[in-house]
Amino acid sequence: MSATGNVPFLDLVTPHLELEAELTSVFRNAVRTAGFIGGPVVEEFEREFAEFCGARLCVGVSSGTDALRFALMGAGVKPGDTVVTVPNTFIATTEAISQSGATPDFVDIEERTYTLDPEKLRSYLETGCRRDSSTGRLISNRTGGPVTAVIPVHLYGQMADMDPILDLASRYHLAVIEDACQAHGAEYFSSKERRWRQAGSMGHAAAFSFYPGKNLGALGEAGAVTTNDDGVARQCRMLREHGQSKKYYHDIEGYNGRLDAIQAGCLRVKLRHLTAWNERRRQVARIYDELLAKATGAITLPHVPRWSRPVYHLYVLRVADREAVQKQLAEAGIGTGIHYPVPLHLSPAYAGLGFRAGDFPIAEQAAATILSLPMFPNLSPESQGHVAAEMLRSTAIGVNAALTA
Ligand SMILES: Cc1ncc(COP(=O)(O)O)c(C=O)c1O
Repeated sequence: MSATGNVPFLDLVTPHLELEAELTSVFRNAVRTAGFIGGPVVEEFEREFAEFCGARLCVGVSSGTDALRFALMGAGVKPGDTVVTVPNTFIATTEAISQSGATPDFVDIEERTYTLDPEKLRSYLETGCRRDSSTGRLISNRTGGPVTAVIPVHLYGQMADMDPILDLASRYHLAVIEDACQAHGAEYFSSKERRWRQAGSMGHAAAFSFYPGKNLGALGEAGAVTTNDDGVARQCRMLREHGQSKKYYHDIEGYNGRLDAIQAGCLRVKLRHLTAWNERRRQVARIYDELLAKATGAITLPHVPRWSRPVYHLYVLRVADREAVQKQLAEAGIGTGIHYPVPLHLSPAYAGLGFRAGDFPIAEQAAATILSLPMFPNLSPESQGHVAAEMLRSTAIGVNAALTA
């Protein structure tokens, strides 16, 4: 809480000040060696981040959007294909699909986790698609294109229910690209494998964003693909570097999508703290859960299924009169957010896809009622008390009743 009693939505200054000496030395080292692009710092980060994710390989790229695009293309998605995802994600997920030449299609989310509903995916594949009799390929009835990949989004730091998604993907020969841009360190208990698996280790490839506000954020733009597949990694390495397999030998056309050495060095410094920061986020979430438990009639708190160990990139709850609550919190100096207010099938950017209101009711209901509270590792219990008191007040429960009951 600031001296004025305000609670920001996110505090990015404090953790960077705490690491100022180490972060500055990354810059100093880059200036002294002129090691700006590629080189050992990038390679070290890639090795360390792959290990953190429980994946064999990591390819550093220049953003989460590039990571998604390269992962899709590297996993074999071709122009004209159809790639299935959810409507309630950041637009980068679908931008990457379109930029790979494919068409996005959607299935609705599971109401309590806000992540891809495996049953809806099953029904999409069983009834929303047909087999082409000559090629045997699975064709989407809506887009007319072959369905070749699915992107489960681990939204807000919560894992999608991966076991049934992976089963369906294997039955229908779909590549699975995890959008793990909000889920660094999140874990999923695979009943099939009887073990916990990390975000970024389960699909054919996964995309991470290191946008500064993420659980692991760079000091600028950065991202990474993780994968266990050598072919996918090789393809992503070529795509990030103008399609070259070695300097000036261009096997394909690619992009300028590299992770630079300064960002990689800063990420290495911050990666050492990520587990502790994620644990702090979980504590912050537990405190919110307790403080707001009395208002569960008016507020829907985040749900954690038994198979999920989320990392709370965001703490998202639902309230009926969201605009009024948000306004009252703003008046009390509390920053909030809405992630995201317009489900993508209703966004003007996708008007051409022909979706209508009502096509994905769960995502639409969520978009109308979700509210993200301040969430960051160094959020103090005192600040959380202030946020919770204002939440209880604004949802007409009354802070006194809640505290004394
Ligand atoms: C779910 C999701 N996917 C993709 C991205 C894209 O990442 P970037 O902003 O690094 O391109 C983000 C980042 O905001 C995201 O939250």
